[in-house]
Amino acid sequence: MAKSSTRLVLICGLPASGKSTLARQLAPKIPAIRLDKDAWVTQLGADLWDEEFRVRLEHQLWVHSQDLLAQGQSVILEWGHWARVERDQKRLGARALGVGVELHYLDAPLEELIERAERRNASGEWTASPMTRAHFERWATIFQPPDEEETLLFDKPVAEG
Ligand SMILES: Nc1ncnc2c1ncn2[C@@H]1O[C@H](COP(=O)(O)OP(=O)(O)OP(=O)(O)O)[C@@H](O)[C@H]1O
Ligand SMILES: [Mg+2]
Repeated sequence: MAKSSTRLVLICGLPASGKSTLARQLAPKIPAIRLDKDAWVTQLGADLWDEEFRVRLEHQLWVHSQDLLAQGQSVILEWGHWARVERDQKRLGARALGVGVELHYLDAPLEELIERAERRNASGEWTASPMTRAHFERWATIFQPPDEEETLLFDKPVAEG
């Protein structure tokens, strides 16, 4: 049985918007288990750009998250949640389990994201094929930022980064 303080924390934002950084800050404060899809992809030996693998892994991580939440363990999902429909599915899943659900949206100017990605490529922190300006320009047209109406459907965050 989930405890009333149990929470699903969704982090939403484009690449390099600071999702993993925020998730690391929130995890001990909530406290919550962080599920970092990119780390799992890498550690399982797959390519970070292998979309089919990412979709299958994400499905499994969501199944696992629901098990954890049902046992009273709070969870942070730090992949981008670009589409409203993905966020709706997670929010309704949490509600069905009777646990809280938070949305943290990280917004930053596209130029800033491109600069961060370039620094990350150069630093060796990112070892897969690089994210380029062209990627970010395309992703910005696909990304669906949460609006106020949607934001109000979530619970107030219990911790800030
Ligand atoms: N507020 C910030 N200002 C400057 N740099 C930042 C900020 N937040 C994060 N960074 C840097 O930007 C890069 C991306 O941050 P982070 O890994 O947290 O983003 P992310 O949203 O998880 O990215 P991805 O979607 O690729 O996983 C890192 O090198 C990080 O150190
Ligand atoms: Mg990340």
